[in-house]
Amino acid sequence: MEKDFTVQMKRDQELIERALSEVFRDGERYADLQEAMEYSLLAGGKRIRPVLTLETCRLCGGEPAQALPFACAVEMIHTYSLIHDDLPAMDDDQLRRGRPTNHVVYGEATAILAGDGLLTAAFEELTRAELPADRVVEAVACLSRCAGPAGMVGGQALDMAGEGRGMTRSELEQLQSLKTGALISAAAQLGCIAAGGSREDRDRVRAYAQALGRAFQVRDDMLDVISSDQELGKPVGSDQANEKSTFVTALGLEGCQRLVDELTGRAVKAIEGFEQPDFHIWLAESLAKRMK
Ligand code: IPE
Ligand code: IPE
Ligand code: MG
Ligand code: MG
Ligand code: MG
Repeated sequence: MEKDFTVQMKRDQELIERALSEVFRDGERYADLQEAMEYSLLAGGKRIRPVLTLETCRLCGGEPAQALPFACAVEMIHTYSLIHDDLPAMDDDQLRRGRPTNHVVYGEATAILAGDGLLTAAFEELTRAELPADRVVEAVACLSRCAGPAGMVGGQALDMAGEGRGMTRSELEQLQSLKTGALISAAAQLGCIAAGGSREDRDRVRAYAQALGRAFQVRDDMLDVISSDQELGKPVGSDQANEKSTFVTALGLEGCQRLVDELTGRAVKAIEGFEQPDFHIWLAESLAKRMK
């Protein structure tokens, strides 16, 4: 019987929640900007990416707490991407993490600024890590590359450009590797960087996270069809309403699950060589059948 890591995951999530709640606590408060940032940042969410940062730090021989500022930075970037993804000019969604979306509550201008603020403050957060300067520089290089035009933002551009037209399977793969895989890959790599992992560790971690990230997005496409607003905390049917090409339109639901399982197998294979890969294996297998 495989081990259940739910308790370990909960412990990580608590650490992350506490750290996130302190990010803007003592800072300046201008108009409703800080409130809007915290509204989305502290609205829950599964915290998969920062958990991956902490656990990958442990996997590579580090102390997870060392990586906490890196973990917060990734979650701040992710939250900014969700605020902007929901805007009327993009997916035009009204529900996120079980609450009205940021622009619905604060208006579009503040929602755009809340995203800008989270994105910029994420890099300040990286510099708060009590780690050797070369590791912090490496983290800045990794996160900026994965989250920027060569990564997540590039993927979002392809996603928007693809609305209303069919995409080939390889176009979809590229789009999803960028819009979702890149940040999940950054999350894992930052853990390895914090731990001072070797080049070989970094490569294995990256291969794991890229496969995991792709599986995660294919499952997200499925949930947009098979779940409910209440369970997901975001509107189902959004992809169809926006005429997005997704893996559901390309492969159907059963084909999607086969692909999720195949990618999960690939992720597990990439990580098996580590001394204690069990948490990462459990995480990949749990996410393959997640319902939210
Ligand atoms: C949603 O990410 C956006 C995707 C890349 C699929 P999550 O499913 O991790 O959202 P939260 O953080 O739990 O709200
Ligand atoms: C968004 O993909 C990925 C991001 C980079 C934010 P989706 O548009 O499918 O994410 P959801 O379904 O709205 O969370
Ligand atoms: Mg989108
Ligand atoms: Mg969306
Ligand atoms: Mg989606």
